[in-house]
Amino acid sequence: MDNKINSNESSIADCEIFDFMANHLGLTVIHPGGLKATQKLEDTMQINSGTKILDIACGKGSTAFYLAEKYGCSVVGIDISEKLIQEANDTCRKKKLNNQVKFLVGNAMDLPFDDNQFDAAISQGILVFVDDKIKTINEASRVIKDGGKAGWIELSWKKEPDKEFLDKVFNILHAFCLKNARTYEGWQNVFKRANIHNLVTIKGEKITGNFYDTLKEEGILNTLKIMFNSIKNSEIRNRMKKMGKFIEENQNYFGYGVYVIEKT
Ligand SMILES: C[S@@+](CC[C@H](N)C(=O)[O-])C[C@H]1O[C@@H](n2cnc3c(N)ncnc32)[C@H](O)[C@@H]1O
Repeated sequence: MDNKINSNESSIADCEIFDFMANHLGLTVIHPGGLKATQKLEDTMQINSGTKILDIACGKGSTAFYLAEKYGCSVVGIDISEKLIQEANDTCRKKKLNNQVKFLVGNAMDLPFDDNQFDAAISQGILVFVDDKIKTINEASRVIKDGGKAGWIELSWKKEPDKEFLDKVFNILHAFCLKNARTYEGWQNVFKRANIHNLVTIKGEKITGNFYDTLKEEGILNTLKIMFNSIKNSEIRNRMKKMGKFIEENQNYFGYGVYVIEKT
C-alpha cells in the first residue's frame, strides 16, 4: 500500500482524508459518489438472493450490509485493515447478518481465494491506494466466475490536474491518496494495460452528497453521531468546512467513475 492509512497518532487537522472521515468524523460509507455511485454499480450487475459477491476493500462493511439486506444475497468483505474488519464484524453481529455476510483481513493485490469463486466483485476506492493497480484488477477478475462482473468506483478527474491544483488537494484536503487518481481516460488506460478490453465506464458528476444522502447512507443514529462529532469539536467542524468549500469550488475537477468488466 503506497498511502498509509494510519489513525493512531494523527491530528484531526492534517491527517489523511480517509483517516479523518473514518476515524474522526465516524463515516462508514467512504468512497466518491457514496451510495448513489454504489447504486450505479449494482445496476450493472444482476444481483439476486443467490448471488455471491466479494466486496474488495470493504472498509467498515457498509456496502456489504446494504447489498445483503437489499437482495438477501451473500457477501464476503475483505480489507487490509484489521481494525476496520473488527468493526465490520461487530456491526455484522449486531445486525444479525452472520449467515449472509463474512469479513476477513486480506490484500486486494493477492486475494486469498481460488479462481472462479464469486458471481460478482465490487471495489470502491481501492485503486488509488494500491501499488500494483494491474495486479489488483486482475485479482478481482481471477476470483469471479465466467460471465460474472467486476466493478470499481474511483475518483476520476474531469480534467487533468496541474501541479498547483494537486498541491491544494494535498494541503487543503490532505487527500494524499489522490496523487494516484487518474482522469477517466487515465483509468481506462490502466484497465487496457491490465488486458481488459470490454470495459464499461459510467461517469459520475458529484463526489459528495447532501444531508439526505448522508442520512440514507449512514442511517439516523450514525448521522446523529457524525453531527455530534462535528458540533462538539471545532477542529472537525473547521476541516469539514474547508474541505466542503474546496470541493464545491472545484467541481470542474472532481468526478468519479464506475468501471465495470465482464469476465469472458
Ligand atoms: C476509501 S476506503 C473505501 C472503503 C469502502 N470500500 C467504502 O466504500 O466505504 C479504502 C479502503 O481500502 C482499504 N485498503 C487499502 N489498501 C488495501 C489493500 N492493499 N487491500 C485491501 N484493502 C485495502 C483501506 O483499509 C480502506 O478500507
